[in-house]
Amino acid sequence: MLQVKGLSKNFGGVQAVKNVTLEVNKGEIVGLIGPNGAGKTTLFNMISLFLTSNSGEISFLEEKIDIATPEAVVGKGLLRTFQTPVGFPKLSLLENLMVVPPNEGEGIFSIFFKKKKITRIEQDHYDKVCGLLRQFNLYEKRNELAENLSAAELKLLELCRQLMANPKIMLLDEPASGVNPIMLEKMVQHILRLRSEGMTFLVIDHNLGFIYRICDRIYCLANGELIASGTPEEISNNEKVKSVYLGAS
Ligand SMILES: Nc1ncnc2c1ncn2[C@@H]1O[C@H](COP(=O)(O)OP(=O)(O)O)[C@@H](O)[C@H]1O
Ligand SMILES: [Mg+2]
Repeated sequence: MLQVKGLSKNFGGVQAVKNVTLEVNKGEIVGLIGPNGAGKTTLFNMISLFLTSNSGEISFLEEKIDIATPEAVVGKGLLRTFQTPVGFPKLSLLENLMVVPPNEGEGIFSIFFKKKKITRIEQDHYDKVCGLLRQFNLYEKRNELAENLSAAELKLLELCRQLMANPKIMLLDEPASGVNPIMLEKMVQHILRLRSEGMTFLVIDHNLGFIYRICDRIYCLANGELIASGTPEEISNNEKVKSVYLGAS
C-alpha cells in the first residue's frame, strides 16, 4: 500500500534520514521506533509531503506521490497526526470535527443550485462527527473546549479528525506519549478496532511495550539509518536495537 524506497533528507550538514526503504501492506500495523533524533518524524514529514526528500521515491496505492501536494495525498487517503496535537484549542470538540471539510467533491455551483443536497451533506457530516465522538467516548464532552481535554483525549480527538477525512492509511506520530496507562489501554483498543475494520497504520512511538502489543512488524531507525526490521519478537531480541536503546537512555 505504502512503499518508501531509498529516501534521504539532509538539513544543512545533518543527514536526518539516510537511504531508508520500507513498506506497509494493507491491513497491517507497522511500527517505526528509534531513539530521539533518529529521523522518525522527518521520515513521516517526507511521506506526508510536508518536507521534500533529497532523494528516493514514495508510492502510495501503486502511484508515485513524491510530486503531489500534502492536500493531494490527504485526498488519496494518506493521513498523519503530529507529535503535538494540532486542531483548535478554543473550539469545542464538535466544532473541531465539523470544520474538517466533507470529502464529497462538491463544486461551488452545487452549493448554489443544490441546496437540498447540501443540507443532506451537512446532516451526514454532523452525524459522522457525533458517531466518531461516541466511538471514542468523547461525546459527553462534545461542547467542551478542546483546550480542556487531557493529553490522551486530545490524541483521540486527533484520531477522530483523521477519520473525518476517510483515511486509507493513518500515520501516527507518538500516539502514546503523555498518555496514562488506563488511557493507553483504550488507545490500544481503538487502534486494534480500527484495524479490524480494515484500517492500515504506520505508528511511531517511544513506548516499546505499546509498539510490541499493536504492531505486526517494526522498523528501527538510528541516526537516520534503518538498523533492523522484523516482528515484535525479532525486534525485542535484536542486539543492534537493544544497543541503540541502551545507548540512548
Ligand atoms: N527542520 C529541521 N532543521 C534542521 N534539523 C532538523 C529539522 N528537523 C529535524 N532535524 C534534525 O534531524 C534529526 C532527526 O530528527 P527527527 O526526525 O525529529 O527525529 P525523531 O523524530 O526520530 O526524534 C535530528 O538530528 C534533528 O535535530
Ligand atoms: Mg519525532
